[in-house]
Amino acid sequence: MADPRLSKQSAFSVGSSATANRQSSPAAILSRHMLAADPPDHTRLRRLVSAAFTARRMESLRPRIEEITRDLLDAIDGRDEADLIDTFAFPLPIQVICELLGVPAADRDDFRAWSNVIVAGSQSGDRLEPAIRAMVGYILALIAERRATPGPDLLSGLIQVRDEQDRLTEEELSSMVFLLLIAGHETTVNLIGNGTYLLLRDRPRWKRLRAEPSLLPTAIEEFLRYEGPVETSTFRVATEDLEIGGVTVRAGDPVVVVLLSANRDGDRFPDADELRLDRTQNPHLAFGHGIHYCLGAPLARLEAQIAFTQLMARHPGLRLAVEPEALRWRPGLLLRGLHELPVLL
Ligand code: HEM
Repeated sequence: MADPRLSKQSAFSVGSSATANRQSSPAAILSRHMLAADPPDHTRLRRLVSAAFTARRMESLRPRIEEITRDLLDAIDGRDEADLIDTFAFPLPIQVICELLGVPAADRDDFRAWSNVIVAGSQSGDRLEPAIRAMVGYILALIAERRATPGPDLLSGLIQVRDEQDRLTEEELSSMVFLLLIAGHETTVNLIGNGTYLLLRDRPRWKRLRAEPSLLPTAIEEFLRYEGPVETSTFRVATEDLEIGGVTVRAGDPVVVVLLSANRDGDRFPDADELRLDRTQNPHLAFGHGIHYCLGAPLARLEAQIAFTQLMARHPGLRLAVEPEALRWRPGLLLRGLHELPVLL
């Protein structure tokens, strides 16, 4: 993850036939972001938004995130049963990232559908191309709208950086919006979902965490290690012949790191296959490593902390509504998350 001989920029060029084609295709408009860039472009793009995502900035969002969480739980109050993904784990991070960026509430359902299709990649078959085109159209319209009517949001700030200081190109701007929205849509949902599932699958854990709330920070790190939301890294490409763990990788070969496999490394984690809510030495790779280490990690941690705190307080008797074996996991290699999590409230 930290090896500079593995390039991100080349990874996103693989499979494209001509440069001209690369520059004009809808997919290209969405692939000029920091997670597809090497230094110095990566450094420049990341710096433009890193101040907006520091732990301290995130802490200032706490009251609003608590309010959003309360509203979502209010909405299922009085019900006996609910799908916790659909009603809670999914809408919470989405609402936060949309407010942060300045995406109107009314558009969120469309966005969710495209986002799901896009991250499933080639598994989405014929639906992939139209979803990418719809997403590009949406993002371009959103930028145009904010350009005409700026607000106090991150997107308006980025447009200003583009228009007044010329520190990023128009494609980089739309790609940045795309990356932040996708990252905010597809990841934290699985931290809340998988963590709740792990606690309810073995209810004494749920009871223990309720009795000892001071364990919540280590418990969240353990959910990230044991059943992290992102199963593999994104693609990198070898820029020269190299050897990794005794395997020869040729220049041009793609490399994917299986983060959740590293997280079960018995040499690194004692009793690696055991979920321990109080594990203190926990250098997991759930947020990646190196220069592309997750920008949203402080936000994701804060959202998870608020979500679990309120969920345990409001629904002490929470339990799974089906057998754990009946739960369906989303397809694809990149993400590890449940389609739905039916619970008895
Ligand atoms: C629990 C939730 C999350 C997990 C597990 C997660 C995981 C990751 C991982 C593994 C990477 C590195 C991928 C690679 O190197 O191939 C990454 C990068 C990134 N994440 Fe997250 N993420 C989460 C939430 C978020 C959120 C909420 C945001 C922001 C809104 C975000 C924004 C980003 C960005 C912008 C990058 C690229 C950073 C760079 O290239 O320098 N993530 N994330």
